[in-house]
Amino acid sequence: MAKIHIGDQTCVLPMATTILGSHFQGRPNFMALGWLTRVNFKPPMLGVAVNQGHASHAAIVETGEFSVNFPTVDMVEVTDYVGLVSGKRVDKSKLFAIFYGELKNAPMISECPLTIECKLSKTVELPTNSFFIGEIVGSYSEEQFLTNGAPDIKKVKPFLLTMPDNRYWSVGDNIGRAWSDGKSIRSGSNKDVEA
Ligand SMILES: Cc1cc2nc3c(=O)[nH]c(=O)nc-3n(C[C@H](O)[C@H](O)[C@H](O)COP(=O)(O)O)c2cc1C
Repeated sequence: MAKIHIGDQTCVLPMATTILGSHFQGRPNFMALGWLTRVNFKPPMLGVAVNQGHASHAAIVETGEFSVNFPTVDMVEVTDYVGLVSGKRVDKSKLFAIFYGELKNAPMISECPLTIECKLSKTVELPTNSFFIGEIVGSYSEEQFLTNGAPDIKKVKPFLLTMPDNRYWSVGDNIGRAWSDGKSIRSGSNKDVEA
């Protein structure tokens, strides 16, 4: 089948839809965030790409702290809202019930089943965005969202984002096990390939 060049504005498909928490001018602020990824094993680190014009950007530069919160499928509207308006013009601090872990400037959202607080470790300056790499200081959930102590996606019910078509999606079925399903090939006829 012929491949078609579809341009250069392609994103990771899909992305987790999250909410970035910070303290902007002394008050909690939240923005929708799709551009994030885990970037280091030990110490555990997350990277978030934030546009230099956002209030959240100024907040992270000033305080060196931020949070990443995973909203549920019931929170699509409010998540989208914090991605539409800026803390520079609107007070978004009262939209959620807030709690804190160890960091004073990384407000976390009580309604979110999974939240992470990060301390800024490194910043990579890019033409329009800054890539903030934060060390994970702590992550928080509730018993009802865990299976064997780990967040269970069926219980957490996060939602996904696709760009550039700008749509939200729920998560589908579990179709395999990582670091496991490939073993059938390793132990089969392709054994020599690995060596
Ligand atoms: C679903 C969604 C995902 C977004 N992801 C990002 C992102 O990863 N990085 C970014 O800089 N802006 C992103 N935005 C835009 C910001 O959330 C938006 O500009 C927000 O109003 C900034 O708020 P602030 O000025 O209070 O920080 C996203 C918006 C939406 C709706």
